[in-house]
Amino acid sequence: MQKTVHYKGKDIHYTHLNPARKKGGLAAPATLMLVHGFPERGRIFQPQIAALSQHCTLLVPDLPGSGDSPYNPDLHSIADYADALQAITATEQVTRLVIIGHSMGGYIALAFADRYPRNLLGLGLMHSTAYADSADKKANRLKAIQTMEQYGGPAFLKSMIPALFAASFKSAHPAVVQELIQAGNDFQTATLQQYYRMMLDRSDKTYLLSQLSIPFLFISGTEDKAAPPKDLIAQSALPQTAMIEILDQAGHMGFIEKADEVNRILLDYLSLVQCLQGQTT
Ligand code: MLT
Repeated sequence: MQKTVHYKGKDIHYTHLNPARKKGGLAAPATLMLVHGFPERGRIFQPQIAALSQHCTLLVPDLPGSGDSPYNPDLHSIADYADALQAITATEQVTRLVIIGHSMGGYIALAFADRYPRNLLGLGLMHSTAYADSADKKANRLKAIQTMEQYGGPAFLKSMIPALFAASFKSAHPAVVQELIQAGNDFQTATLQQYYRMMLDRSDKTYLLSQLSIPFLFISGTEDKAAPPKDLIAQSALPQTAMIEILDQAGHMGFIEKADEVNRILLDYLSLVQCLQGQTT
């Protein structure tokens, strides 16, 4: 079901799916929120929605400025976007939440965990990181914001999107890469610049990994340059309980490049969350 919530003067669109019937031992499952990255929209998770909607309640937003959710110039920080997600979970009265974010969606998920830890049962960083941007990355983002100003956001996306995928996937599935580039034309340049500014301003969140007593999930790919395996392996040592998966021959888009494997990982992770809940309740 497609729904909207009003937040800071604009609608945020999201998909809300309840399992038709419960399968596979995930009784009384948590609500899973999947938060997309840059430059994406909620339906990029179609393979996960298809695989997981039988197992748990799903909330899949289009972040403000993406998909059907209009750009909101009043949002300035990753924390503002975390508040936007909270508007959805509050509307849906979610009391048991697992949040999994892809890349930029992971940065927002971490800010959400920082601000709203109470009902959170688990957090997944899918090709994402708790580190802040390095000085080089910040400089590259500033350059990219200028490039977008000069040539427009879609032209920038055309050059950056292919680098998100592993070489083998790109040569086997050029149409998938092309489709994402094509979808880039739907973005306003102002939205993409806002995303880059807030990503560059975000702070390190590694303290949350040891501070929160929830299980964390980390997914990277052997060819993921944005959230490389070595960073996530180091971060996975911090929580009390963590699952880490490095996808072979995958880039930054494992949930598309290796959809079946990622779906299996997500189900395993939900089972782990469920199992730990059983021990504490
Ligand atoms: C994303 O996939 O959301 C972006 O690559 C995030 C980033 O640029 O750090």
